[in-house]
Amino acid sequence: MIQRDVIVIGAGAAGLFCAAQAGQRGRSVEVLDHAKKVGRKILMSGGGRCNFTNMYAAPENFLSENPHFCKSALSRYTQWDFIGLVNDYRIPYHEKTLGQLFCDDSASDIVSLLMSECKKGGVTVTTRCEITAIEKLDDGYIVNTSLGQYQCESLVIATGGLSMPKLGATPFGYKIAEQFGLAVLPTRAGLVPFTLPPELKTPLAEISGVSQKVRAGCVNTSFLEDMLITHRGLSGPAILQISSFWEGQDVELDLSPEEDLHADIQQARQNQPNQTLKNYLATRFAKRLAETLIEVLSFDNMPLKQLNEKQLSNVADTLHAWKVRPSGTEGYRTAEVTLGGVDTNALSSKTMEARDVKGLYFIGEVVDVTGWLGGYNFQWAWSSAWVAAQYV
Ligand code: FDA
Repeated sequence: MIQRDVIVIGAGAAGLFCAAQAGQRGRSVEVLDHAKKVGRKILMSGGGRCNFTNMYAAPENFLSENPHFCKSALSRYTQWDFIGLVNDYRIPYHEKTLGQLFCDDSASDIVSLLMSECKKGGVTVTTRCEITAIEKLDDGYIVNTSLGQYQCESLVIATGGLSMPKLGATPFGYKIAEQFGLAVLPTRAGLVPFTLPPELKTPLAEISGVSQKVRAGCVNTSFLEDMLITHRGLSGPAILQISSFWEGQDVELDLSPEEDLHADIQQARQNQPNQTLKNYLATRFAKRLAETLIEVLSFDNMPLKQLNEKQLSNVADTLHAWKVRPSGTEGYRTAEVTLGGVDTNALSSKTMEARDVKGLYFIGEVVDVTGWLGGYNFQWAWSSAWVAAQYV
């Protein structure tokens, strides 16, 4: 039986960071992961450059049944703390947009940082290790694995959510929560592209690759960012963001969020009365998008002079508030995150320890705290990991 003060299950962002910090506090720590490689999601993230935090990260950027839960951890280990660590390692990075910080070179810089921090803390990291069962003792846990038995005082579950099963995601963390009587809130895919019904999917698929700045909204929330038309439906940052709020209703797309089309189309009719609606739209959108909009929105493609006030106003209204009803999402296969998870009411926001199960901690994405797109999910991993590491 291998004895450790702390066993962390999951060698992802949260698990490695927690292990490193606890090790540096003088605890003996081992991280166990069933995958062949550590930090696979980190390596894939941000298109291989890892959007490792956001300069403007704040509790408002997170979804949870209890929006207050994340406040403590985020304020005790902030984005500036992690940026400081990245600076210490002289990892070159840049702000891409909206406070999103990406590595200049490679996401592997962040994995190397985490592994160096683990080394500093004397942490053992063991991969290809299947966890078969967990038993509670009076003063700790027995972890049964394919590589033997471990005994520890504190057990940290950092096995993430369900997104991207190909990268090693499993429901393990939820099952452990249930084994110890913690509630698990229903999960669903977040930061995920929408699929569309055939009548929209087919015409839009023909212009896949076209992108348009939009304001995408539902449930009193909206995001002003790019939307990308794909073979399967809609994607791009605006869509991924709003997908986390979507629960089956219409999504409203303002296709011209920065310009009032009502005034513009009237002006166009005055200046170029013989211009067709399609040609007018081609001055405002990519030509292929303009053609497709005429088709899917059933606009009459007539010279502007033949369209009356009401018709013109209807065109502008529709383009400013196109109501699209997705048929679904692409699901966990392509989702960046999992919404829902271990109920925060069962955890201490100060320590991430289960309130009623001494020595059992949940950190990172397995918890019902989900960030927007833009580095927020990694910041939650760092912050929740750091606070837990002070107590394990
Ligand atoms: P994470 O998923 O990182 O790690 C969990 C670990 O547990 C894995 O190593 C897994 O193998 C292991 N595990 C699972 N089940 C196990 C079991 N049964 N036994 C043993 N081990 C097990 N966020 C962001 O802020 N910026 C970004 O740029 C991106 N980009 C991005 C791209 C893609 C493609 C995805 C899928 C996700 C992102 N994200 C992101 C989200 C971000 O990657 C995610 O929120 C964090 O990795 C969560 O960190 P965790 O450590 O909680 O889980």
